[in-house]
Amino acid sequence: MKEQVTEMIQEINEEVWKTLREEAIAAMETAYCPYSKYPVGAAALVDDGRMVSGCNVENAAYGVSLCAECGMISDLVRSGGGRIVAFICVDGRGQPTSPCGRCRQLLWEHGGPDLVLEMPQGQMTMREVLPGGFGLEDLELVWEAPRNNAPTAKENQ
Ligand code: THU
Repeated sequence: MKEQVTEMIQEINEEVWKTLREEAIAAMETAYCPYSKYPVGAAALVDDGRMVSGCNVENAAYGVSLCAECGMISDLVRSGGGRIVAFICVDGRGQPTSPCGRCRQLLWEHGGPDLVLEMPQGQMTMREVLPGGFGLEDLELVWEAPRNNAPTAKENQ
């Protein structure tokens, strides 16, 4: 029975990963990347069963270009929020690619340390790809702590 359940979960997972990859490829095909010519598509499964996706959108002012993950997180929030539990981003060949450092921070915020990512090396958790990630808990530590006679920003001026 236990084996059957494990098998079932694996089956569902494989199906989920296949669908996620297809979603990411479909998103990648809509990318706007005339400068880098490196299309990226990102897709994630949300804890309520929804899927969200995004593509990279570049700009003539290179620095303001948006990664595929930015669009995907916008899609997540706009469509009702929730936690992302599985994530993949693909390159122009449809192969898994590695989310950049900035986007790992975005993923950490909405997926946390247990989010599973399909990386070029195989499946990894957020905890592995962003060890010691910074989050709301870090802010709360200071928000809740007494000020310890520390000078206020105004006093410091
Ligand atoms: N890119 C993403 O969309 N996501 C990443 O995590 C890595 C990089 C995009 C940004 C830029 O449009 C192109 O890939 C080349 O860097």
